[in-house]
Amino acid sequence: MTSQNIYILAIESSCDDTAASVLCNGKVLSNVVAGQKIHAEYGGVVPELASRAHQQNIVPVVHQALKKANLDKSQLHAIAFTRGPGLMGSLLVGTSFAKSLSYGLNIPLIDVNHMQAHILAHFIDEDGYYKPPFPFLAMTISGGHTQIVKVNSYFEMDVIGETIDDAVGEAFDKSGKILGLGYPAGPEMDKRAQMGNPKAFKFTKPKVEGLNFSFSGLKTAVLYFIQKETKANPNFIVEHLNDICASIQYTIIGILMDKLKLASKQTGIKHIAIGGGVSANSGIRKTLKDAESKFGWTTYIPKFEFTTDNAAMIGIVGYLKYLEGNYANQSITASARLKI
Ligand code: KG4
Ligand code: ZN
Repeated sequence: MTSQNIYILAIESSCDDTAASVLCNGKVLSNVVAGQKIHAEYGGVVPELASRAHQQNIVPVVHQALKKANLDKSQLHAIAFTRGPGLMGSLLVGTSFAKSLSYGLNIPLIDVNHMQAHILAHFIDEDGYYKPPFPFLAMTISGGHTQIVKVNSYFEMDVIGETIDDAVGEAFDKSGKILGLGYPAGPEMDKRAQMGNPKAFKFTKPKVEGLNFSFSGLKTAVLYFIQKETKANPNFIVEHLNDICASIQYTIIGILMDKLKLASKQTGIKHIAIGGGVSANSGIRKTLKDAESKFGWTTYIPKFEFTTDNAAMIGIVGYLKYLEGNYANQSITASARLKI
């Protein structure tokens, strides 16, 4: 372990957020995210538009991250970047930028797996947050992924369950779309759910073996339910929106918790972490906290700014790899389907 301060610049561009962050050892000095509002008009991320927006945003976002950290690029020790998984056109922007900058500055380049980063975000040094001991279980829930991962050490992870169709974030976003909510619908669904009755309407949970998930059936169930109810009462959505949101969210949380309980039972692990955009959900955060006394779990819930896509989580992985001397070389390419 070195006693020198190590400064890492991290870049994340896997989907529709252009993000840059500067870390000093495990601490975040700056964490800048430029979202892309353009996709809301289309009700989902348009890959071609996302890569163009990354091209426009990347230089100002990196400048801002360095400025906020009060650091000059000449002081950096390494450049970390998201190699995958994600949208190829989006990944290429961050990858090319990181490669060029590391070449220009003549400092190491470090490739990071986005899904590992959602998990290892728990190792960012933050006052009031504690780090999970190995082994622990991590449930990564986002717009693109739903996995339960047994984390044996920083870079030794086993995916023990995952979705066989839609990701949980899509269940929020697609159900929200049916209800006329904007994209992405998760945050608004969460807000409305807090004002509604979670038991007002019942949606059946899918029957999937083992630790895998399925969410495409829920979206269809919501669609048929809404079609039937609005036929009888055209104002049904407006009159019951909060209750509908609460009931959908309650069902989703139930599906996630059933699998998490099974994973804990099967592995005997009671240290449970969550990560990814959907871990910003207030219902999931509360249910997990309640599970501590109910099941004897210790839960690890990230700070809000490290739940949705961000570069600080890429930076912490960059730092951990830097300590191991685990660098990439200039021939590395982005990988849209990179596995954990
Ligand atoms: O991790 P993330 O920023 O991007 C991906 O890698 O996919 O996750 C985005 C997803 C979206 O589906 C969004 O609706 C969902 O996270 N999300 C939420 C909340 N905040 C973001 N879902 C439910 N409740 C929230 N509060
Ligand atoms: Zn993500």
